[in-house]
Amino acid sequence: MEVIIRSSREEAEKMTAALLIRAVKSKPDCVLGLATGRTMEAVYAEVARLHREKEVDFSQVCTFNLDEYIGLAPDHPNSYRYYMQEKLFKHINIDPQRTYLPDGLSKDVKQEGPHYEALIRYRGGIDLQLLGIGEDGHIGFNEPLSSFTSRTRDVTLTPETVAQNSPQFERPEDMPRRAFTMGVGTILEARRILMLVTGKAKARVLAAAVEGPMAAMVPASALQLHQNTVIIADADAAGELRMQEYYRWVLENDPRWQDFR
Ligand code: GLP
Repeated sequence: MEVIIRSSREEAEKMTAALLIRAVKSKPDCVLGLATGRTMEAVYAEVARLHREKEVDFSQVCTFNLDEYIGLAPDHPNSYRYYMQEKLFKHINIDPQRTYLPDGLSKDVKQEGPHYEALIRYRGGIDLQLLGIGEDGHIGFNEPLSSFTSRTRDVTLTPETVAQNSPQFERPEDMPRRAFTMGVGTILEARRILMLVTGKAKARVLAAAVEGPMAAMVPASALQLHQNTVIIADADAAGELRMQEYYRWVLENDPRWQDFR
């Protein structure tokens, strides 16, 4: 994988948005894998701005989100469907029929995963998957010990994840303990992966994922198996990486990144 270090959080967010827009421009009917979380909020605001300013067309784009809480209706303010609607979808010209998230109210919890995977296949597979990372190393809601070959399924969240996310709920005790998530194996099938990591709180887990051994205890370390992954980190999140000098050198010298120097 490639690591790009930006000096500020804002630069890291802008570069992520720019790469997403670049993917849409080069393939107007691309399939995007999308992530939620605080990290992505500014990215979607920037994507919406670029859509308005540069008239980027999303009408043929299709999106699949990584995960959704089990038990939350689409219009619940803490559902990921609601998040996507508010932060991105309502600001761009995307066709709602082409936006997919797991159904938090699915009647058949065991069937929801295979059904979601069938939809991803039907749309041709994910061209570019956007990812954040949890402080425990999760990607999507693949908590520590998730198999690297796991598929979309229902999972139980860890107490750490509940502690991290429950403050966003009006009543923290209302946060669901279960969720649907694409599997690690599902994520690894994306043609390209773009992970954004910002803030000091993520520095330790980012170093473990990128430079540590691959281990199911750090699900994001599975990205070491992927051939086309770019990780964008701000200086705070990159603080514990041992190869920082080299990553900065690559950014300076690789022609692929010349627009971002
Ligand atoms: C959440 C989401 C992940 C997200 C991660 C980080 O629980 N399920 O998809 O990437 O945890 O969230 P944040 O960006 O708020 O730190």
